[in-house]
Amino acid sequence: MDEFPALLVPDNGSDDSLHSLLHLIREKRASIRGKVVEHGALLLRGWKLANAQDFASVVEALGYTSMDYKHGGGARKHILGPVFTANEDPVDKRISFHNEMAYLTVYPDVIMFFCEQPSPRGGGTALVNGELVYQRLAKEMPEIFNLLQEKRICYRTGLPKKWEEAFQTTDKAIAQKRAEAIGARLEWKADGSDHDEPVAYRGPFSATVKHPVKGSMAWFNSICLVQDDPVTRGVAFGDGSPIPVEELDKIATVLQEEQVVLDWQKGDVVIVDNLSVMHCRLPGEPPRVVLVSLIKGY
Ligand SMILES: [Fe+2]
Repeated sequence: MDEFPALLVPDNGSDDSLHSLLHLIREKRASIRGKVVEHGALLLRGWKLANAQDFASVVEALGYTSMDYKHGGGARKHILGPVFTANEDPVDKRISFHNEMAYLTVYPDVIMFFCEQPSPRGGGTALVNGELVYQRLAKEMPEIFNLLQEKRICYRTGLPKKWEEAFQTTDKAIAQKRAEAIGARLEWKADGSDHDEPVAYRGPFSATVKHPVKGSMAWFNSICLVQDDPVTRGVAFGDGSPIPVEELDKIATVLQEEQVVLDWQKGDVVIVDNLSVMHCRLPGEPPRVVLVSLIKGY
C-alpha cells in the first residue's frame, strides 16, 4: 500500500471527459481493479463526472457486481441502479471509522464513493489502512487485541427503518427469524407495544479479517462507529461482557493517527477495498452530496 490512495488522473492535456474515462476503464479494467486491491484505495480525480448516472456508468464499466443496501445501519436512499446516498444523517455529524456493514453476515468487498457536491467546509472522508492498524494494535495493545480476537464482538444497534419495512413483515416472530438469518437477534420493549422499534443484537463477529485475494490480515469491524452512536452506544465482547471504554478510545486514537483525509473535489470517485481499508466521514456543512455503490467480489 505504498501510494494511498493510488491515483488515476487524465494525462496532461488529454481528454478528461466521462467518455474518455469509460474507454480507459474498459481497456484496463483488470489492472484498475487490481490496483484497488494492491493499494487499498484508488482515487479517480480530474474527470468530468457530474451526477449519479455518470457514477453508475463508471461502476458498470468496471464490471463490478453491485449489491443492495439491505439491513445496513445507516439511513441511505436508493438513487438509481447501483447508486445510493452515502448517508442521510446531518452532515455536521462525524461518522467514526468502520468497515462497511462489518456488523452483518454479508458485507461489500469494495465500496465506491462519488462526490457530486463537496461540502463548503470540512466534510472529507478519512481512510485508514486496516492492515497497518492490525499490525500496530497487535504490537502496541496485545492484551485487548488478543481478547477481541478470541471473544469477538457483539453490536447493539437500532434499525435504520421501521422493523416491518426492514424485515418485510408485520409478524414479530417472522421478523426475528429473518434477523437470525443475518446474524442478529431482535429485542422489543417489554410493554409489548405493536409500534415500538426493537434493538438488534448482532454477532458475535470477528474483529479482523483475512483478505481473500492478498491473504493479509486487517482490522475489520465497526466498534468505534457503534460505540459512538448516541442512541445505542452498544458494543461488547462476543460473550456479552463489556469492552473497557479506555481501550476503545486508545483504538480510536491509533485509527486517527494513521488516517489519510480525502478532501473531496467535485466529480471525485474513490474505490475502497472494504476488507483492508476503513472509512470515516468528517463533519461538514451542507450542501454535501456523496453517493455510494456497494460491490461484491474483486
Ligand atoms: Fe460507511
